[in-house]
Parts: sequence; C-alpha cells; structure tokens
Amino acid sequence: MSDSKTNLSIDNSGVDPQTNFSLNPTFAAIVDSRMARRNFLKGSVGAAVAAMLGGSLAACSSSDDGEPTPVVPPVATTPLLGFTAVAAGRADAIVVPQGYSASAFLPWGTPLSGTYPPFLADATNTGAEQEQQVGMHHDGMHFFPIDTRNAGTSSTEGLLVFNHEYIDHNLIHPNGIDSMPRPAEQVRKEIAAHGVTVAHIQQNSDGNWQLVNNSPFNRRITGATPMELSGPVRGSSKVITKYSPDGSRTRGTLNNCGNGFTPWGTYLTCEENWAGYFVNADAEQPREHSRYGVPSSNGRYFWETATPTADVYQRFNAGSVAADATEDYRNEPNTFGWIVEIDPFNPDSVPQKRTALGRFGHEGIIFGKLEEGKPVVLYSGDDSTFEYIYKFVSAAPYYKNTAGGHLLNDGTLYVARFNDDGSGDWLALDINNTDFAAKAAAANVTFSDQADVLLNTRLAADVAGATKMDRPEWGAVHPDTGEVYFTLTNNSRRTDEQTDAANPRAANVTGHIIRWHERETQAAMAFDWDIFLLAGDVGTATPDTELTLTEDNHLASPDGLWFDKNGLLWIQTDMSGSQQGEGPFGNNQMLVADPVTRQIKRFLVGPTDCEVTGISATPDMKTLFVNIQHPGDRSAPGDFTSHWPDGGSNRPRSATVVITKDDGGIIGS
Ligand code: FEO
Ligand code: CA
Ligand code: CA
Repeated sequence: MSDSKTNLSIDNSGVDPQTNFSLNPTFAAIVDSRMARRNFLKGSVGAAVAAMLGGSLAACSSSDDGEPTPVVPPVATTPLLGFTAVAAGRADAIVVPQGYSASAFLPWGTPLSGTYPPFLADATNTGAEQEQQVGMHHDGMHFFPIDTRNAGTSSTEGLLVFNHEYIDHNLIHPNGIDSMPRPAEQVRKEIAAHGVTVAHIQQNSDGNWQLVNNSPFNRRITGATPMELSGPVRGSSKVITKYSPDGSRTRGTLNNCGNGFTPWGTYLTCEENWAGYFVNADAEQPREHSRYGVPSSNGRYFWETATPTADVYQRFNAGSVAADATEDYRNEPNTFGWIVEIDPFNPDSVPQKRTALGRFGHEGIIFGKLEEGKPVVLYSGDDSTFEYIYKFVSAAPYYKNTAGGHLLNDGTLYVARFNDDGSGDWLALDINNTDFAAKAAAANVTFSDQADVLLNTRLAADVAGATKMDRPEWGAVHPDTGEVYFTLTNNSRRTDEQTDAANPRAANVTGHIIRWHERETQAAMAFDWDIFLLAGDVGTATPDTELTLTEDNHLASPDGLWFDKNGLLWIQTDMSGSQQGEGPFGNNQMLVADPVTRQIKRFLVGPTDCEVTGISATPDMKTLFVNIQHPGDRSAPGDFTSHWPDGGSNRPRSATVVITKDDGGIIGS
C-alpha cells in the first residue's frame, strides 16, 4: 500500500504508523562501511563465510574489491539479463522489454466461483457477488503447479493464489462513501473484496492462460472466512471473544500484503496494516492494541458502524462494551497480525493463523534454505517506521516426507540486531531465555507466558534491543547460497542522530536493500551483513561497490523482492503517489538484479498511480506472473486517474499480469 495514499473521505494516513517509541539505542555515527567490510573479509568471520561458500568465493574474491559474492549456478540455457532495459515513464500501460509480451489476467471482479456473477463495470455488484469474484488490490502471489504434491513440474496448469490487500471506496462503489453510518451491504462487499483468491488456471494451446471455470479449487477467502488460531496463542485468555469463548477461532484475514509458501505446498498470507480496521475508544487501550496503532476514534473504513448491524460487523468495535471478553470483541484485534496458512489444494480446509511466528505488521514471509534433518527457518519483516526484522526457527527438524504445518506451531522467534561492525545477532523472544528474561525484568516489563510474549511481539523486540529499521518489506533467499535479502522501503523520519550502519541515511525517502549470511547454518544465532543497494536517483552510489545507478535502473521505495530459480533478484517498487508524480522515477516499476555483479535492469513499468507487487513464475520460468495493485490510486468516483487494464473511460482494476517471451524463452534472458 502506498504510504501517502489520499482519499476523499477516509484518512489512510495511518497505514504505516510509527508506533515504536521505545528507547532502543541507535548508533551515533555512520560506520565507515569500507572499514567494516574489510574487517568482514579479513577477520575470522570472513574466513567462515569463505569456507561456507567454498571454491566459488575464492574465485570471486580475486576481484579488486573482494566482495563475498554468492554462488549463482544458472539453470537458464540462454544468457540472463540480455534484454534492453525499459525506460522510466508515466504511460497508463504496462511496458516490458522488446521481445516480451504482457497481458492483464484475473482483474478485480472476475467471476471465480459459485454462480460466477459477471463483473459490472459501474461497480454495482453486490456483496454476495463480490464473495464469488476475484477481490480487490492484488498483492503477494504464488503459482502452485497442479502437481505440486508430486513432481511439482507443471508449467501449464496450476493454482494461482494471491492476496487482496485493501479496498478503495472510490472504485469499489459507484459513489464512494456516500452515507454514514455505513450501509451494511457496502461493508459486506468491502470485507469480501479483502483476503485471498485461489484460481485454478491453465495455459491453452495458443499460449494464453485462462481460469478453469467450475473447478473445485476456485475459492475466495475473505475478511469473514472462519479460521483457527494455532500455536502458543490458541486458547489464551487474550483471544477469547464472543465468537470464540475458548479462544480457538476467529473470522477473516485482513490487509494481506506479501506472502510466502511452504515446502509442503501450502500458501502463507501475511496480515500487515490490520490494526486500523478496528476501533477501541476505551479510556486506556491494552498494550496489545496501543503498540500496534488500533485507532481510538473510528476504524479506517468505519465498518463498526455497519447498519443494520450484525455480529460480523460489531466485532470491529474492540472496546470493552460488555461484562467480559466472552460477550464482546475487546480481544478481536488480538486475533489479527499473524501469518495465515492456507491449503489451496483442499477447498474445505480451515485457514490456520500460525501464532508462533509472531504478531506484528507482517509484510511477507520467506523460508530459509531447507536442509533435511535441520529446523525450518523463516524470515518476516514488520513494515512500519522503525520496526524490526524477525526469524523463526522450528523446534522440530524438517524431513521432506513428513513436513507440514505442525513445524510452524512450535519453535523460537528471534529479532535482528545489526551491529555496526557488519556482524549481526538473533535475539530470542522467549520467556524461558535467561537473557531475554533479564532484559524484561530490567525494563520492568512483565509477560505472563509465551502467548503474552507473542501477542506483544513488538514490545518483546523492544525489550530485546533489536535494531530499528527503515520499514522492512519483503525478504528473498538465494536458492543456492541461502543468503537473505530484505528491502527497507523508506523512512523519512530517521534523523541524523538516528542513523546507524544498517540504516545509514537520514530522511531516507528512497530506501535500500540489506543482505546477510547466516554463520554456519541457516538457524545460526549470528550473521554477517552488508548493504546490497542504496536506492535513489541516477548517480546514487552504493559505497564500496561498483554500483552507481543509471537511467536503466534508478529506483525508489523497493518493496516486493523475489529470487527466481536462476538466482536473479526481482525488485518491485512502491513509491507514493507524489514520488511517482514529481520524482525522476516515473511510475512504479520492477527491476531485475544479478546479485553477484550487481548489474540491474528495469524490466517493467506499471500504469498510472499503481504499485507493482507480487511475483511468481511457472517452474520452467517461461511464464511470469506479476501483480499490479491500485492503478488509478488517486481516482475520485467517476473521475479516474487510470483506465488500466480495460481502457476507454473504464474504472481502473487491480490485476495480475502474465508475461511471456515472444520466442518462448526464459523470462529475464
Ligand atoms: Fe503492504 Fe508494506 O506494503
Ligand atoms: Ca508491500
Ligand atoms: Ca510498501
């Protein structure tokens, strides 16, 4: 979601609120990164990394800067990054390199299930119809080959699963918000436009992709779908609601931003800016609400006012309005802020909120490199100003034949501290960890049990002494080396005094990408990091690298991030409306980088006022799926700033884009 989205009647300014006012130390000065890297290479750490990378590092380290570059054994048979970079621009269209084609697919409103109600261009579809149509504002996405549970090699048929992050009143209704209190019918439609779409798709003999109508796999999961809480928070007194007096269930998933997927063939959707959907007007909010920015006057979309009222709408009032938690929804926000696991191959499956992975503004989630017999490791960023990067390590080891969701129910959550010498530490958020317990006691913070720690993940990370980051967005793990990359989209609020080696720029309006190597194993407690890329205008240099941005690759506000199987790093941008309108970067875009050479080329520019977010591909890398979110973001009812993808005078619609190479080759070559 753009961080400066404007709307005629809704205040969306709090979508990425700063709620971290903890006193965690920031480093006083920018560390000389050249020195830091020299130490990184020459010290024992560098030796350890060299050992881990083996001979290929030895080959790379003969280069003049000795960068500890990862190994990239290309799967592709054609040279990668062979295309001509797309120029920055402001066309109301998708622009891809010469020799590639792009077409819109599965836009908001596409008939998906049930009676397959057709999309009505004047936005008069009902809530019941929206429940059977593709949702709004596409975001994270994954293509599951139809044979995922077997070979997993199909590149012509599969389940495309994607998030719907939020809604735009000016586009979803004919006249935007036109009455208050909110009509329940409108609210029903808005809740239905959130969540996740599971679409069974296949490629025709002519090469075009289509939805498989009447497939039992086609499914909408919405902001009202019944879900279960699993892991340590299940049954906690703080998730008891009128709907679930035993604290085991909740309804819906909201503000689903980035995504992940598991090695066992399920989808992970991430709840990001969920706090704003609720209101708690009590004189004092519990820390489970206040630290996440639950509003005190009204919910972002006023769903709590839905009239005629019903329990499914009343739950957005999270105040203490009845005698106890079994009779109201004071705990409803505590059932949000989680990673949700969905089995797309079982249409009757109940989504599971995996509470062991922590509660915050989850941007996305990415598995570390898998090793048989070792724990699974997952990384997730908390996209709010000055928030943190987390890592989960499962208690049980991974074995391909028995892996499943149980691995996500039991383990240890850690938060990252980026030291100024290029080293880093994972700090356990575990009530039984003596270091953590001592820090909590010293800070006079009390947690009643591990469920309480997880419900208050941000507070626990404050206590642990994590490094405040410039809005962590997506992560990506190199398929061969296990090296982890994370986008830090921007942070205009960082002052000179608050800069540190990992967040080196004050008023960082263009963002950067950080990366690290775990020491020894993916589950290690220490790592070594450097900055891969400082984003910015032409001429922006990343210190102590040969990377200086040019017209071919200048960018701002990196957000989506993904490694393809060939080891290319795809970078998607989410610049605000003003940054797109006034800056040198043009519309939001997607670039692709070689992580070894740092060669970067712009591959795609999106239509007007959109965000490029969400990416996946077929196993043969010959079809790339990319999502275009909120084209026409600054539209008023009937006055649209984009008409993509339908053209003419049509209202804009978020959609997936299918990209192929005209010669049938590998995407990115
Ligand atoms: Fe939903 Fe942080 O972007
Ligand atoms: Ca995002
Ligand atoms: Ca963003």
